[in-house]
Amino acid sequence: MVLPADEGLFLSMLLKIMNAKKTIEIEVFTGYSVLNTALAVPDNGKVIAIDLNKEYYETGIPFIKKAGMEHKIDFIHGNAMQALNELIANGKEVGSFDFAFVDADKINYINYHKILLKLVKVGGIIAYDNTLWYGSVVAPEIFTT
Ligand SMILES: C[S@@+](CC[C@H](N)C(=O)[O-])C[C@H]1O[C@@H](n2cnc3c(N)ncnc32)[C@H](O)[C@@H]1O
Repeated sequence: MVLPADEGLFLSMLLKIMNAKKTIEIEVFTGYSVLNTALAVPDNGKVIAIDLNKEYYETGIPFIKKAGMEHKIDFIHGNAMQALNELIANGKEVGSFDFAFVDADKINYINYHKILLKLVKVGGIIAYDNTLWYGSVVAPEIFTT
């Protein structure tokens, strides 16, 4: 489930080029891509990371601590759609993120996108894992469901 290293490096390069400071991750698993993002943002940067599963994240915490990145990560335990709607409802987070990365349930990508367009600032980047998954972007619908 973990990102390939070349994808991690590509995302890291994007984050550094755009000087991203505040990011949001819809997925965590054991925290590989979250740690990758945390390493790419400055010391006062913030990574909000949402996942249904806390146990996986806890497996990764020792590595995040060893990398000295724990202070940059705010883990939200729960359903991403609900957590995103709560961020919208609190008002302060709208248009505040430089970068978002999505690698959770593919069926909801379109729904995440609609909400992330409100949370990510104009000129920011929203990146999706698996968009070229076995050519599914161009495959007939029968192969994409
Ligand atoms: C493919 S893994 C992420 C791997 C991660 N990018 C990495 O490099 O380690 C997908 C994660 O999305 C989480 N997930 C799936 N559906 C979710 C949802 N509706 N809300 C929050 N998290 C979800 C799963 O629990 C899982 O940990």
